[in-house]
Formats: sequence, C-alpha cells, structure tokens
Amino acid sequence: MAVISLRTLALVVLTAAGSSAANAVTKLVLDPGAPDADRARAKLQKSRGSSDATTIPATNLAYVQYTASIGVGSPATYYNLIVDTGSSNTFVGTGKKTKTSIPTGQEVNVTYGTGYFSGYEYLDQVTIASGFVITNQSIGDALEYADFEGVDGIIGVGPIDFTPGTLYPDVNAEIPTVMNNALEQGLISTEVLGVSFAPADSYSDTNSVLTFGGIDSSLYIGDIAYTPVTATEPAGYYWDVNVTGATYGATTVIPGSYAGIVDTGTTLIYIADNWYSTYQASIPGAHYDSEDTGLIVIPESSVASLKNFTFQIGGAEYVLDPTAQLLPQDQNTAWGGKPGLQYGYIGPLGSNSGEGFDFIIGQKFMERFYAVFDTANERVGFAYTAHTVT
Ligand SMILES: *[C@@H]1O[C@H](CO)[C@@H](O)[C@H](O)[C@H]1NC(C)=O
Ligand SMILES: *[C@@H]1O[C@H](CO)[C@@H](O)[C@H](O)[C@H]1NC(C)=O
Ligand SMILES: *[C@@H]1O[C@H](CO)[C@@H](O)[C@H](O)[C@H]1NC(C)=O
Ligand SMILES: *[C@@H]1O[C@H](CO)[C@@H](O)[C@H](O)[C@H]1NC(C)=O
Repeated sequence: MAVISLRTLALVVLTAAGSSAANAVTKLVLDPGAPDADRARAKLQKSRGSSDATTIPATNLAYVQYTASIGVGSPATYYNLIVDTGSSNTFVGTGKKTKTSIPTGQEVNVTYGTGYFSGYEYLDQVTIASGFVITNQSIGDALEYADFEGVDGIIGVGPIDFTPGTLYPDVNAEIPTVMNNALEQGLISTEVLGVSFAPADSYSDTNSVLTFGGIDSSLYIGDIAYTPVTATEPAGYYWDVNVTGATYGATTVIPGSYAGIVDTGTTLIYIADNWYSTYQASIPGAHYDSEDTGLIVIPESSVASLKNFTFQIGGAEYVLDPTAQLLPQDQNTAWGGKPGLQYGYIGPLGSNSGEGFDFIIGQKFMERFYAVFDTANERVGFAYTAHTVT
C-alpha cells in the first residue's frame, strides 16, 4: 500500500486544485453510458481494424482525468471509470454490485495518495467493448470511498505487482488485472495498451482513445521509440522509465539518467523539486501557486519568451513547446485559478532528485505524445502525434 500511496497525484490535484475544480467535478452528473461516449464508441468499433486490438473512446473529464465507459455485470451497466496505469485494482462504487456478482469473501482496501476505497471483492463480467467481455474479473465494490468525485471508480491497468496487500484476509494474493484476464481469455493476443490522449476543448471531452491489445497506427506520426521499464526502486513498481535528460531552452534541467513513472492517472508533469527550481528560475517572474491551484504562475511578460521543454527518453526527444507547457486561460476557473493569470503544467514533485522516483510523466505529456504500455516486452513507447506541435 505504501507503494501506491506515492501516486495518484491527479486525485491530489483534484482537491489541491481548490474548491472550484473539486466542486465542478462533484456537480458533473455522469449517467452510466453517457450518449456522447456511446456514439464515439460505436463509431470506433465500426472502424476497428482486422487485428484483435480493440479501440474504445476515453473522456477527458474536468481537464484533470481520463475516464472510459466500462460495463459491469450481465446485462452490463456502464460506469465511468478512471483509466489508471498507476494502479491495478478495478473497482466501482458505491453499492454497484450486480446480479451476476459472485462474492469472493475478501475485503478490499486500496489507498491512493489522498484517496482510498474499501469494500468487498467480487468476481463479475467486465465489458470493455462489444465482443470484448472479460469474465470472472475480480473487482471491488466500494462501500466507502473518498476523493473520486464525479467518477464511478477505477479501471486499473497497472502491473499486477500492485495488487498484493489489497485483499483481506488473503493479504498476499495477487489479483489478475483486466489486462491479465483479457490475455488469458484470448481477447487480446498481447498485453499492450495504446493511449491516445488529446488536449480538451470542453469540460467533458470524449477526445481520446485507448487500444487494448495493441497500438493503432492511425493515432501517431512516424515511429514509436521504446524504452525499457527500469527496475529502479521505488519507481520500479510502476510503469517506470528512465529519462536520460531534459532541457528548457539551452538550460539543463535533468542532468542525466533518472527513473520515474509514466502515469495516465496523474494530470500534470512533475519533476523533482530541484529540477523544477531550475525551470522556474529560467522563467523571469515565475512563481509557484501553492495556495489555490498547485500550478506554476508565469507572468504575461514572460509568456512570449517561453522556450521548449525537451525530454530525452529512449534515444528520442520529446518537445513540449511553450503552448504545451501552458494551461489554456479559459480553464483557469476550473482549476481554482484567477482569471487573467497564466498557469503552467510542469510542477514540482514534492521531493528532490536522487530518490529513484524523480518525475511523473502525466496526462499533459500524453496529450502531446502517443503512449504505449507494453507489458509483454516490459517497455514503454512514445510517438509524435497531430497534437505534438501546437
Ligand atoms: C482503508 O484504508 C484507509 C486509508 O488507509 C483507512 O482510512 C480505512 O480505515 C481503511 N478501511 C478499511 C475497511 O480497512
Ligand atoms: C476466477 O478468478 C479467480 C481469481 O481472480 C480464480 O481464483 C478462479 O480460479 C477463477 N475461476 C475460473 C473459473 O477461471
Ligand atoms: C535509471 O535511473 C536511476 C536513477 O534514478 C539510475 O540509478 C539507473 O542507473 C538508471 N538506469 C539506466 C539504465 O540508466
Ligand atoms: C521548439 O520545438 C519546435 C517543435 O519541435 C521546433 O519547431 C522549434 O524550432 C523549437 N524551438 C526552438 C527555439 O528550438
């Protein structure tokens, strides 16, 4: 559990982002199977290729989270679940168990930074898409949960290694994830998740897609550059990679090879505090707003002279140009920010470098680059997309 508690900064952000963002999320009514998501789902299923990979839509919700509409039980009831590569339990809550739920006799409790859920573990059917129905999936039915306003639960697509310690009394049990079961049941032929996120234009924007069991070459440009997952602890428990360097303009921000994680459940891009200080000090007048938003504030006078922020990963360079570093000002209020200020997406991790967990590559990076989580080959890949250059 200590393993998981370092992450889910997105959920921290939801609350740390101040009352506006949190309230806005709470206000949002998420009907099971929202019509937009359903239409997008139908369209994508029609365009599914001949491979056994399945692509489904995902929604960028409140600018801070990605959800997918996932069916539970038979007949399926659809719920909006956070798609999280940083955790591995799947749960819905509260009291969402279905007629087809089979109790396992286990209690379940997962802690995510500020959030947690606890309840009972069931076996049930999980529908990812029509014709992609995982049977006998172990899922939690949350009796109690906190800090997941506006969503019905989580679909955990992280490594199975996170699951021991979440059940009681079988504290040492591993819980096969949806990806493990999909492979085992022949629904996918390789444990690969392709993630195509995009900057949101509205508060609930079904602008993204997930590919289970492969990658969708129509969603990226050029080649995917892969980097192996590293064994560096504690990042080694996550979808972790080494970044071999990073620069802001001509300034070195990350001075060598360091381990961190790639996490679809984290909103921002976090770098170790000492590296963040270098970045902030390179932008005249920039400061950190710990009060309202947890975001960097960049004076208007410095916006025009912002430079590229470039990560080096797996021998390739990933450029976040100035626009990719900035929160669109029409989203300030949703983040609890002040109108007219310019906020940014690169933030401090909360600890200095050298801890083996020195950055989080979150959604704001993946909105610019296609990401591939390849369990079979123990690697993560990135590629350029139509959203890379703004
Ligand atoms: C689940 O974990 C949370 C956070 O650690 C704790 O507050 C809560 O009491 C736990 N619930 C159960 C039923 O163990
Ligand atoms: C269903 O899954 C559980 C664990 O998740 C496993 O113990 C059990 O053997 C599975 N049953 C079948 C029929 O596959
Ligand atoms: C990855 O980074 C860690 C430090 O976080 C370092 O100890 C390790 O050697 C690096 N691995 C590679 C392959 O560069
Ligand atoms: C910033 O990156 C973009 C996209 O890669 C590139 O076209 C541009 O030349 C870069 N700007 C500078 C100053 O390096």
